[in-house]
This record gives sequence, structure tokens and C-alpha cells, in this order.
Amino acid sequence: MRLNEARRDLYRRLAREQGYKSRAAFKLIEANERYGFIRLGDRVADFGAAPGGWLQVASFLVGEDGLVVGVDLDPIRLKEKNVVAIKMDVHDPAVAEKVSQALGGKADVVLSDLAPSVTGVWELDQTRQIDMTLRVLELSRTLLKGGGRVYCKLFEGERSQEVRGEFRRMFRSVRVIKPAASRNAASELYYLCEGPQV
Ligand SMILES: C[S@@+](CC[C@H](N)C(=O)[O-])C[C@H]1O[C@@H](n2cnc3c(N)ncnc32)[C@H](O)[C@@H]1O
Repeated sequence: MRLNEARRDLYRRLAREQGYKSRAAFKLIEANERYGFIRLGDRVADFGAAPGGWLQVASFLVGEDGLVVGVDLDPIRLKEKNVVAIKMDVHDPAVAEKVSQALGGKADVVLSDLAPSVTGVWELDQTRQIDMTLRVLELSRTLLKGGGRVYCKLFEGERSQEVRGEFRRMFRSVRVIKPAASRNAASELYYLCEGPQV
């Protein structure tokens, strides 16, 4: 078995044993252990949230005084009391209003693990993922508090420069993270952006 597959299997097994909905949960746990961008009492918006691994992690981190709102095309079934799930397309013009209402105010943190159903044609998959990420940044302009944090996935390729430019225009600090739980071969990176939005 190749190392990447072994690693993926390990995270899948851990997710099952620890009751997480997805192995993606570890990509958030690992980054937050290092940078502590989700804190007790935070309000968090999570785009591309199904089946709910990140929601479970964020729910635990924000505690009972915090709130986590997840948006996905797919339904999300979670028991956590501080989680609200919205079944919606991120490109829907009503999504900002819906999330804002559910949050009851601005978000301290915006998360995005959005990924399209993969066609196998990398240029097409990448361009669709980039459009989703740009949409999350657009939503963040409305939803995120000044000084808030964004942690989001980005498919690397020709157009990623465009998104990185936008990160730098909007935030004071931009960090690139490759979580161990992310396959080495996968051309995905995570970005943690913090600080005042312009
Ligand atoms: C990698 S999965 C997210 C895994 C999640 N972070 C977890 O921990 O369980 C990517 C998600 O993006 C969602 N997605 C893709 N396009 C979307 C869109 N236009 N609007 C909302 N969600 C979308 C997919 O349905 C899928 O559930």
C-alpha cells in the first residue's frame, strides 16, 4: 500500500473510531491546534459543510455559548445543539441573509471546505472550486467581523494566484497550511487569513 493511501486509511479509521462524520475533521483539528483560530463562544459559518466533520469539531471548540452554521447542497444530520444546518447552494443570492439570520450577528470565523463533484478534468474542477472560494470571500465581506478569521480550501492551479491576491487585499495575515490529513498527492492547500478586512 502506498504511503498516501495508508495515511488516508488511518484518518478514515480514526474518524470512525472517534465518531466524526468525515476524515476531513482532522484537517481542521490539526490547523486549530496550531493556530487557535476557533475559540470558545465564537460564531462560525461553515460553507461546504456536509457530512459534518468540521461542524462537529467547531461545535466542540465554540462550546455551548457559541454557534456554528453549516451550508451545503447536501443534507446534514447532526445532534449538536449549537449547530444549525442550511441546505443551500453557496451561489444562491439569498445565502448571506440566511446565514446572517441563523448566526444572529456577524461571524468570528468563516470556514470553507467547498469542493465540486470531481469530473476528473483538472482544469474544470479547479476553476469551479476557485469560483466557490471567491464566492466565500464575497460572502465574508458581509458576514465576517472586522478582525475575523477565514480558514478555507483552495485547489492549486493556474487560477489560484487570483484568489491569493484577493486574500492579501482583504486580510493582514495570510498563511498557507498543508494538513497531514490532506493527501500529499492532492493539489489542495488550506489558507488561514486573519485581520482587518479592507
Ligand atoms: C470535502 S466536502 C466537505 C467536508 C466537510 N468539511 C466535513 O468535514 O464533513 C465538500 C462539500 O462541498 C459541497 N458543495 C459543493 N458545491 C457546493 C455548492 N455550490 N454549494 C454548497 N455546497 C457545495 C459538497 O456537497 C460537499 O459536501
